[in-house]
Amino acid sequence: MTDEAVLQELAREIRSCVKCPLHLSRRNAVPGEGPSDATLMIIGEAPGRNEDEQGRPFVGAAGRNLDDLLSEAGVSRDSVFITNTVKCRPPANRRPARDELDACHPYLRRQTEAIAPKVIVLLGDAALKEFFPGSSLGQVHGKTMKRGSLLFFSTYHPASVIYNPSLKEVLKDDFRKLGALTREGKV
Ligand code: URA
Ligand code: SF4
Repeated sequence: MTDEAVLQELAREIRSCVKCPLHLSRRNAVPGEGPSDATLMIIGEAPGRNEDEQGRPFVGAAGRNLDDLLSEAGVSRDSVFITNTVKCRPPANRRPARDELDACHPYLRRQTEAIAPKVIVLLGDAALKEFFPGSSLGQVHGKTMKRGSLLFFSTYHPASVIYNPSLKEVLKDDFRKLGALTREGKV
């Protein structure tokens, strides 16, 4: 199977998945989207209302912030694979629960294996903790971190700016760093 076929098969499985209680309240699962040969993979927290309605990641207010940040980095959205730690919207946008994250993680792992990106960008605390449970964003944002053969880069969630405007410059700065890393071929 080609990597593209693996991603399509995963998307099919995700759309009909009933492995955790989030399937009960979702309208559409959001598998993620982007090319199978993406060098950058972005992992957010979970679909929100707009994403649940459209079945696509980062299409609401947080998505507009992400688009601005990607252009700050000089990275085109079409070249990136974008997904979330869980593929179905938690009711009232609450944080995904441990059992939901664990049930959904195999999809994320299989997506990561098919894409084999050069760098995985973790947006926000939930995505960070999924791979580095002991880390805190305040300490590791804007830096690369290795785990096995994978390289990670973490920063704040684009929606955090909506509640905490002072993070706007921090996020922009982190995305500029990410853009420079990719252009220099370091990641
Ligand atoms: N926030 C996320 O973490 N993911 C989305 O897809 C949309 C908003
Ligand atoms: Fe399945 Fe993940 Fe959706 Fe839970 S969140 S139902 S594990 S696809």
